[in-house]
Amino acid sequence: MATPRGEFTSRFGFLMAASGSAVGLGNIWGFPTNAASNGGAAFLFAYLILAFALAYPALMAELIIGRHARANAVTALQSISRGRKSKILALAVGFAGIVTVSFILSFYAIVSGWMIAHFFDPLARLAGLDALAQWLTEDAVVRNSLFVIIFMLLTVYIISAGVKDGIEKWASRLMPSLIVILILLILYVLTLPGAMEGMRAYLVPDFSRIADPALLVDAMGQAFFSLSLGVGTMLVYGSYISKRENLPVVGSLVALLDVGIAVMAGMLIIPAMYVAQSNGVEIYDASGGLIAGPGLIVSVLPSLFNSMGSVGILVAIAFFLLMTIASLTSSISMLEVPVAYSVEHHGVDRPKAAIILGAVVTVISLIIVFNFDPLFDLVVTYTTEISQPLLGFAFCIFVAWIWSRNEVLEEIRQGSPNVDAGIFWRVWPFYMKFICPLAILVVYFQ
Ligand code: TRP
Repeated sequence: MATPRGEFTSRFGFLMAASGSAVGLGNIWGFPTNAASNGGAAFLFAYLILAFALAYPALMAELIIGRHARANAVTALQSISRGRKSKILALAVGFAGIVTVSFILSFYAIVSGWMIAHFFDPLARLAGLDALAQWLTEDAVVRNSLFVIIFMLLTVYIISAGVKDGIEKWASRLMPSLIVILILLILYVLTLPGAMEGMRAYLVPDFSRIADPALLVDAMGQAFFSLSLGVGTMLVYGSYISKRENLPVVGSLVALLDVGIAVMAGMLIIPAMYVAQSNGVEIYDASGGLIAGPGLIVSVLPSLFNSMGSVGILVAIAFFLLMTIASLTSSISMLEVPVAYSVEHHGVDRPKAAIILGAVVTVISLIIVFNFDPLFDLVVTYTTEISQPLLGFAFCIFVAWIWSRNEVLEEIRQGSPNVDAGIFWRVWPFYMKFICPLAILVVYFQ
């Protein structure tokens, strides 16, 4: 090993880092729009159940493997494997996770770049630079490339500083700011005309939709993406948790923060859309559903901010700052997966690994930017709808079927000595063995 491994210095530090990973564009953009187009609170209800019944156990699996092995995904999975066959499987799954998360980062960086560009737009207008503002909000290859590069530089900068001085330090600054900005924005938007109608659309359940397979599949995919599962992100963060920490408790706090912030984001986005509508902005697409794709963030909301006069400038700055922070605390957790592997497995030093791997991801992003229409949706679909659930399934199999049950218990007992007497240990192993893999397969084949 090139350097001693990093460790989070406090529970707060870990919680900020892990919830920072979990809370991202998936929460603030994906969740509200999914909810709005799937029966409002009915989706919320299904999401809460799936998040705690299926995503939380899978999150625990990653945290436990990671902390036990104190290593990157490949080494960790190999260390809990027994025979030759499972060691080969471990290598394949760990490696597929690294590749998948790198591709996830490559499209995530593009969208995050849009957020930074839109953050600078109101600043440019404040400075009277209208031509610049115009350029910042126009979807063009040059702009997109430039902001992908800026976003990846920020990500590389944080990751090259390491676990404590990079990830923990920045997550501990950025996540509390994110929560404050989010609350202020919600309070402000709720005072505007139309907001209450949006709140109703969001919170009044259409229970006729609850058994709709499409709703359940969406909710499950949303929960997995949102908790950053299946690709080794949470495993690697888990590997930096102190042995004194109570894993079931910190895991449930991460899940609660993630779900809580998603639900709150819905209280901002959906009312904001209805406010936009009462200001004359079109919020429905051709098929009659709420606009949910990129148009929501890069056109509906900016039109809303523009229609709000000078307050709109402040609100726009706050909103895109929120989006940028959410993206950055997630992207660092993605880049950490390949970086941890290179540092530990190949002895590369951390800053060098961060720069090289960051550059590779940036090149992939740029290829997608230059071939947006054929590539963007393809990469999103392959990584999040195919690879991520399959790998999540493999993680379940490793923990429940390959790793010895006694060793799992031994690991959780550190920091939680009475865990075998509690409810967690009574249900979790059964869940991991049967319910989780089955549920993932059912959803997958839907
Ligand atoms: N969970 C983040 C979001 O909601 C994105 C994310 C971070 C992620 N790390 C990940 C998604 C790993 C999948 C895999 O936006």
